[in-house]
Amino acid sequence: MAKNPVRVLVTGAAGQIGYALVPMIARGAMLGLDQPVILHMLDIELAAEALNGVKMELIDAAFPLLKGVAATTDVAEACKDVNIAVMVGGFPCKEGMERKDVMPKNVLIYKAQASALEKHAAPDCKVLVVANPANTNALILKEFAPSIPGKNITCLTRLDHNRALNQISERLDVHVSNVKNVIIWGNHSSTQYPDVNCATVTTSRGKKFVREIVADDKWLNSEFITTVQQRGDAIIKARKLSSALSAASSACDHIRDWVLGTPKVENCLGTWVSMGVYSDGSYGIQEGLIYSFPVTCKKGEWSIVQGLKIDEFSRAKMDATANELAEEKSLAYSCLN
Ligand code: NAD
Ligand code: LMR
Repeated sequence: MAKNPVRVLVTGAAGQIGYALVPMIARGAMLGLDQPVILHMLDIELAAEALNGVKMELIDAAFPLLKGVAATTDVAEACKDVNIAVMVGGFPCKEGMERKDVMPKNVLIYKAQASALEKHAAPDCKVLVVANPANTNALILKEFAPSIPGKNITCLTRLDHNRALNQISERLDVHVSNVKNVIIWGNHSSTQYPDVNCATVTTSRGKKFVREIVADDKWLNSEFITTVQQRGDAIIKARKLSSALSAASSACDHIRDWVLGTPKVENCLGTWVSMGVYSDGSYGIQEGLIYSFPVTCKKGEWSIVQGLKIDEFSRAKMDATANELAEEKSLAYSCLN
């Protein structure tokens, strides 16, 4: 029997990521090739015409899984009964601006959109925040949508996770699908900590820890980390625009694994992915932050992977990115007063 359609909201749908993301969702890359979808697209008045153009293209593409498309500038209408919300819209960080300059605007946008989701979305709606500052926007959304379960509000660090897998795969000249269990800890910013201490690679000689095969701690502890941390900036330099297709694809990965589950076997703890989730105090990270952890997902629920050993080097980096998030949180709250 055919499945009922799932309603997916994409905010900022007339923007770059939105333009790459909506056809991926309509093709089944987010929820599976047997899952019909209805797209709800939201943007601001200034982008209404462009948004309507995106809607026209979606219709023209005749996607078999796409059972309906709404394009609107009304946030209440956009949020109505949505099961999944991918929050891409926000005030952009223009040249010469810093995060703190865009924080007041984004805090207000996320406060308003949280209230709309709270009132109009399905009660078990799963939320993924992509727009920067992604962790802090997600935190504000959680604060102002108290009836949506806290575990349902997440932010995107899967792009950083995928970037880390790819840096290792290029270094070892193996396909990226053979590299597993990297971790992104913390903020989706240049303080994030890409950690390879548990990462594995499958080669013709079997499965090994990345640290055994790379055998160049200097590269792993410096250049690898900064390359992943600064990859977003490198793309902006090259494209004069921020990453869009890789962000859209990673957003699909994030929701797909969350809803359909992470693969079962890698080591005794499973194959994990990185997601920005509300900290429960695991690994000594203070509660009250949306922090990227290694997670496994089953039956639509994520769980933080427990029991990983944290050495001194990692501890310092995990704390530094947590401190940055605590500062962002205070700044965000000061904008609400
Ligand atoms: P973009 O400027 O092309 O698109 C953003 C869209 O949001 C625009 O169409 C704009 O009109 C719309 N918008 C602005 N305010 C809105 C509001 N209140 N409600 C609804 N829509 C609104 O930007 P983009 O390249 O698509 O990037 C979007 C965001 O994603 C940026 O904040 C970017 O920094 C971030 N990003 C995050 C990651 C990640 O991994 N977390 C990766 C890449 C980009
Ligand atoms: C990325 O990681 O590619 C983006 O978050 C960069 C940005 O500032 O939009």
